[in-house]
Amino acid sequence: MVEPPSFLSAKDVGSFAYLTMKDRTPQILTRAIDTLHRHKSEFFEKHGEEGVEAEKKAISLLSKLRNELQTDKPVVPLVEDCADTDLWNQHLQYQRSLLNESDGQPSWFRSPWLFVECYMYRRLHEAVIQSPPINDFDVFKESKDQNFFESQESIIALCTHLQELLRTIEDLDENQLKNEFFKLLQVSLWGNKCDLSLSGGESSSQKTSVMDSLEDLKPFILVNDMEHLWSLLSKCKKTREEASVDRVYIILDNSGFELVTDLVLADFLLSSKLATEIHFYGKTIPWFVSDTTIRDFNWVIEQMKQCNHKWMSKCGVGWENYIKVGRWVYRDHIFWTLPHDYSAMSQVAPDLYAELQKACLILFKGDLNYRKLTGDRKWDFTVPFHQALRGFHPAPLCSIRTLKAEVQVGLQPGRGEQLTALEPNWLTTGKYGIFQFDGPL
Ligand code: F6P
Ligand code: MG
Repeated sequence: MVEPPSFLSAKDVGSFAYLTMKDRTPQILTRAIDTLHRHKSEFFEKHGEEGVEAEKKAISLLSKLRNELQTDKPVVPLVEDCADTDLWNQHLQYQRSLLNESDGQPSWFRSPWLFVECYMYRRLHEAVIQSPPINDFDVFKESKDQNFFESQESIIALCTHLQELLRTIEDLDENQLKNEFFKLLQVSLWGNKCDLSLSGGESSSQKTSVMDSLEDLKPFILVNDMEHLWSLLSKCKKTREEASVDRVYIILDNSGFELVTDLVLADFLLSSKLATEIHFYGKTIPWFVSDTTIRDFNWVIEQMKQCNHKWMSKCGVGWENYIKVGRWVYRDHIFWTLPHDYSAMSQVAPDLYAELQKACLILFKGDLNYRKLTGDRKWDFTVPFHQALRGFHPAPLCSIRTLKAEVQVGLQPGRGEQLTALEPNWLTTGKYGIFQFDGPL
């Protein structure tokens, strides 16, 4: 196999990786400190003296972390003993082994960006778990919830659309069903604009109805493999034998509006019989600000259920029922919050790889998943997606992602250069999106 190109890294001054480490990550840590401080009376003081001390300790660990990052200190091993600690520390050793002696230790601005950015979130988690009794506090919960509330109007529009669709779904012909599938795929794609990491933790919600903008947004889809998804799933549906199972796995990204778009898509997949089971994977720890944890997943469904809007609450009730009867399954696995890219999954987490092999299709939501699929490397824009996956082929898969990092493969010759000339920041603003498929056709 040809050696892949080098990693994106903050050592490239002026790159997006550099700007993220220099500006956005310290800003995210500052907001986390501020959040701990603001919740002092609400969460910590109720634990008495112990709670007050815990809050102080977490804040001082986070300030230390921010200082290490900003002064480009060496990356140090994790100290708290958790299920993933050894894997992290082994990976740190591996990063060390990649350097020559004259290069010194791996540090924040000299290591691969994917590694240090993941490490930052893992250290943030360590600061919280080292501070009992507040060790299950999610410093990003408030922003995730706010994103949901601020997107209320668009959520209502989307739920109303879904419920109207479900009433007539049995009467739709193939073409109409396909059109609806494509619409909800696009809603889920543009829902990925709403992550809170690109905005440095600032609010980033969906205030207008995406349903109404789909036509205007079409020119911004750079790779559009929606037809492949349709062929694959409609073939599954046609050839399915009674009582057999066709699973779609959705590797979730952000909570709030994006999660609702994913759940709407998941509902449609079952209602249209394009799949018979949906398995969702979320994160075990707070991650990249807005990523979905089990708490967020349950919270969003509960909010929907309790909402006094008829169609929104109908969605919530239906979704809770899917979970009860086991047609929707929420799972997690520590691999998703390790720094490894997905080509390492079969080695590092063979159980997860074997699980994913049961899928008829895996949907990877969001930018970070794309970076991990492609190894976060400086690929030429025309390199085939299959090649950039470097052996990660558990089942047919598709990345649904708005572009927020300087990595993109599988473009037509000249397209990347043309976009760069037109809009130098096209790779990082979230304005463009892709449906990029890999698998047998
Ligand atoms: O700052 C940008 C960034 O942190 C990228 O590193 C990351 O890929 C993205 O935000 C998170 O986006 P998403 O939620 O789509 O994975
Ligand atoms: Mg995210």
